[in-house]
Amino acid sequence: MKAWRIAHFGIENLELVALPDPQPQRGEVLVRVHAVSLNYRDLMVVVGRYNPKMHLPRIPSSDGAGEIVAIGEGVTRVKVGDRVAGIFMQNWIDGPADAAKIRGALGGDIDGMLAEYVALSEDGVVRIPAHLSFDEAATLPCAAVTAWNAVVRAGRVKAGDTVLMQGTGGVSVFALQFAKLLGARVLGISSSDEKIERAKHLGLDAAVNYRQHPDWDKWVLEQTSGRGADLVVEVGGAGTFTRSLRSIRIGGVVAQIGVLSQSIEGIEIPLLLHKQVHLRGIYVGSRADFEEMNRAIDLHQLKPAIDQAVSFGNLPDALRRMETGAHFGKLVVQVGG
Ligand SMILES: NC(=O)c1ccc[n+]([C@@H]2O[C@H](COP(=O)([O-])OP(=O)(O)OC[C@H]3O[C@@H](n4cnc5c(N)ncnc54)[C@H](OP(=O)(O)O)[C@@H]3O)[C@@H](O)[C@H]2O)c1
Repeated sequence: MKAWRIAHFGIENLELVALPDPQPQRGEVLVRVHAVSLNYRDLMVVVGRYNPKMHLPRIPSSDGAGEIVAIGEGVTRVKVGDRVAGIFMQNWIDGPADAAKIRGALGGDIDGMLAEYVALSEDGVVRIPAHLSFDEAATLPCAAVTAWNAVVRAGRVKAGDTVLMQGTGGVSVFALQFAKLLGARVLGISSSDEKIERAKHLGLDAAVNYRQHPDWDKWVLEQTSGRGADLVVEVGGAGTFTRSLRSIRIGGVVAQIGVLSQSIEGIEIPLLLHKQVHLRGIYVGSRADFEEMNRAIDLHQLKPAIDQAVSFGNLPDALRRMETGAHFGKLVVQVGG
């Protein structure tokens, strides 16, 4: 089979290699991968910023969808022909995280999905919603589950709440879609007026360009009559965190997800205290979270926002597009076919 492999860090060092097809062992399923989606994390993995000590070579990418083409002995949870996606952390089935559950992340601790065939534990897959194509379903395991946890679990968003999304990447656009499902008002910040317009078609209520309005926290307060947002879906990290604290209402929730800004700005700790902010770190989620999210996606026939789907050989181009931040929503790599 064909697979992409990181032999040395750097997009330019990615290798397209021929490897033996994996065989499903006892308790495993063999997935013929049809599509993979890219996360900012995959870019960081490839360039060596995620874990500079990562054992190489490594097949990257956590997010893939395909069909089960063979099963190992003892498999009962799924069957040949099922359309499935892998779960991000192969050992986190349900309940709260612990040290053992967060080991086994695809495309990090273990080889990922950028291959024509992948053997996974029968427990490490979920069935995908019937209305989604493989390209669409491949966008779910990391970005969508993370957004689901931010909006539903950490934010407990309800009708009438105000949610702030940052940028228009994979996690943020899913957060927008889930917050709108729940009846919230969504405010946004983006580097691009064009992307803001696109997000408005998905329900974004109002937004500013953070390049033109670097003090967007003041804008959020204006938009909420001084009250502040109920939830900030924080993907910027150190460069946005203090403004996120300024944007939140007293007793609001900051769901800390990302590290996009390379800034090392100081954090205004007093804001955390005075505003009694609930700060919640999010690390994707469990298989149970994924399945719960899929029920909502299915019920509402929600469609992920795909920026581009490129062919398998064009992975480096897709990673470079992600590096420039030109994309809106998810970048997909089609496998095989
Ligand atoms: N903790 C977790 O479990 C988890 C899971 C998934 C992702 N993440 C992290 O979350 C972040 C987003 O991931 P992703 O895959 O959604 O990324 P992505 O698709 O690459 O999205 C990046 C987008 O964020 C916006 N952005 C960049 N810098 C920004 C800044 N300083 N302020 C506001 N917006 C900014 C840009 O959108 P505009 O062009 O619209 O400005 C950019 O296109 C990454 O740091 C990633 O590592 C964490």
